[in-house]
Amino acid sequence: MTTDLLTSAGPAWAARALAVFPAGSNGEFGIPAELIPVLERGEGGRVWDTEGRQFLDYTMAWGSALVGHGHPKIREAVTRALPDGYNFAGIHRRSVELAERLQDLIPCAERVRFVASGTEATMMCLRVAQAATGRPKVLKFEGAYHGQHPVGITSMLNGRPTVLPQSDPSGAGASWVEHDVLVAPFNDLAATERILTQHASEIAAVIVEPLHRCLAPAPGFLEGLRAVTRRLGVVLVFDEVVTGFRFGLGGAQQYYGVTPDLAAFGKALGGGLPLGAYAGKAELMEVVNEHRLPGPNYAWSASTTGGNPVSCAASLAALDLYSEPDCYSRLHSAGRRFRGLLADALATTRTVGQVLGDGPLAQIAFSAQPVTDQRSWLASNRARGRALMLELLRRGVFLNPMGTKLYLSLAHDDRLLQEFGERLVDSLRATAPAV
Ligand SMILES: Cc1ncc(COP(=O)(O)O)c(C=O)c1O
Repeated sequence: MTTDLLTSAGPAWAARALAVFPAGSNGEFGIPAELIPVLERGEGGRVWDTEGRQFLDYTMAWGSALVGHGHPKIREAVTRALPDGYNFAGIHRRSVELAERLQDLIPCAERVRFVASGTEATMMCLRVAQAATGRPKVLKFEGAYHGQHPVGITSMLNGRPTVLPQSDPSGAGASWVEHDVLVAPFNDLAATERILTQHASEIAAVIVEPLHRCLAPAPGFLEGLRAVTRRLGVVLVFDEVVTGFRFGLGGAQQYYGVTPDLAAFGKALGGGLPLGAYAGKAELMEVVNEHRLPGPNYAWSASTTGGNPVSCAASLAALDLYSEPDCYSRLHSAGRRFRGLLADALATTRTVGQVLGDGPLAQIAFSAQPVTDQRSWLASNRARGRALMLELLRRGVFLNPMGTKLYLSLAHDDRLLQEFGERLVDSLRATAPAV
């Protein structure tokens, strides 16, 4: 890619984007005005912008395009479904079929409901837990993002550092949410257990992303959470919006061997189209049964476009692709190879850092100390991380400079990884601090 296509006025489409979207974006990215790409199309693991520039895609629609962009099987399924109508808000043949497949595949999924996004899915898991237990509060882990509802964003941004378990509502747009949320350090089972035991009578749920952003769970951490929540009658919720269908057909709960009470899905579930789901133990999911209205122990649940037949058709086609015998060996081996390539680039450029991640996900942390939770992540050189991401973007890698997690897909073959590796070495050199 060449950057000389960028004029001082910025490309026309980027200027138009800046005039209609705050920061010229539909959320996140935080790209400086002169670098904003306005996308035109994508194919496999590459995208093209309105200026005709080609980018290697290492964000993959924030992980929702796990099968790759414009996959012929997804296009065919959507094209076949379209003439029947796009949305009925009622149960459709395809949503029943899809729910049955989720029930078969996901260990905790005795019952399922569809929504349109990961945000709705995690929000509903928490509301179900609150209605089922009659308790008001939720425990989450510092630094976690569970979607754009107030609890989902609380204590993610570190705008106002707190003494745990006090939460920080920065960025939630709802300061009162701090009263509903307790926060624990990820990977610290003893601290989490202490907070839970102290506040058990008011905690409805623990919500955890099994791979916390890009941080792997310490051995025994998820198992410990399972045991303590069961003992205290607290609902254990896995946010599998990222890990679902990415680590295996049964999600991270199958991959790590710990079954939660409820789980939220999105992203890869829809094969790139908008779809979310929440699922769990039948007795908990009964709280959304309309025959219980108005309660007690009832939680309102309705999604106008969640489970629409077109998204379900895409999802069924994606599940067929995920069910191919070599799908997960390909994703996991691409992930291993990719993380190796990142480590090699750090070594080649004599950069102090470490590579995080699992499955087809990876991230570089610029720190000599082990990064295992939010505090150790905050202690890393995040300014260097941002500079690197922007340099990669300049060199034709499409990614999200605000979230440094890199997503692979089934389209990320050796060539795409190699091309990234070369640009990474150049970008590390270009952003190295002067000595
Ligand atoms: C772990 C996690 N949970 C929930 C969400 C929210 O999903 P959505 O953007 O579909 O609402 C995200 C989105 O990035 C996520 O990473």
